[in-house]
Amino acid sequence: MGARIDGKMKAQAVRAAVAEEAAKLTAKGTVPGLAVVIVGSDPASQVYVRNKGKMAREAGFASFTHELVATVSEHELLELVRALNNDPAIHGILVQLPLPDHIDEQRVINTISPAKDVDGFHVQNVGRLVIGERGFVPCTPLGCMMLIKEQQPELAGLHAVVVGRSNIVGKPMASLLLRESCTVTVAHSRTRDLPELCRSADILVAAVGRPRMIGGDWIKPGAIVIDVGINRIETGEGKSRLVGDVDYEKALDVAAAITPVPGGVGPMTIACLLKNTLDAARQLAG
Ligand code: GUN
Repeated sequence: MGARIDGKMKAQAVRAAVAEEAAKLTAKGTVPGLAVVIVGSDPASQVYVRNKGKMAREAGFASFTHELVATVSEHELLELVRALNNDPAIHGILVQLPLPDHIDEQRVINTISPAKDVDGFHVQNVGRLVIGERGFVPCTPLGCMMLIKEQQPELAGLHAVVVGRSNIVGKPMASLLLRESCTVTVAHSRTRDLPELCRSADILVAAVGRPRMIGGDWIKPGAIVIDVGINRIETGEGKSRLVGDVDYEKALDVAAAITPVPGGVGPMTIACLLKNTLDAARQLAG
């Protein structure tokens, strides 16, 4: 029986440390400021954005939320981003994704000042991560790496399999694991014999968005399993619940340690967003 990795507890510790540092920075005259921009009214995005604002305030940050209608023009959105770039009270800017189809997502992201890009999605920060320069690292993979390293501080030579190749999770996760000298395989929907590949993973990161796709018999005994999936499934009588991309109960028997859903990676994402925003505030304050 493996260990349940408590992301909620770890996230609380990260947030407490961030709050302590934020108080010191505030005493020196800089209140860390986070601006969150949401376009449209996707309920899941609204929940995330509300949570980000709440956690930011709890850490002693100034939190600014900009809610734009789904029909907003790309030009108007870009103007808002430019205004936030020039606002000295703002140190971190997050534009919640996905954006409506008529808006070029990467153009919006690349308009954010790289120094305020606390999501780490600007092409400049992506490039820095890949070549190993200091920059902002995307929050979800950063949180995953903190959880992995708490289980296993030395990762050199381990085989890491990342299932999923998104810009938000899969690709930056692979870069982070490579930076730790893992042998990294990025798998995706076209990968052949995925179960066999997963069984060769010392570290398995699942980020595909398909409920319980990864079975217990896909896990190498003693592996560390990080489940990034957050899938809502119907349980009958109009009720639903959240499950990950991994069959948690089965995998728990085989793995050394595994993150649950909810309570694993999710809370770490927001904690890392606050950490990145604190770092941005410190750097911008000099
Ligand atoms: N949508 C889903 N995850 C994220 C994230 O980490 N950042 C932003 N901006 N949007 C998201």
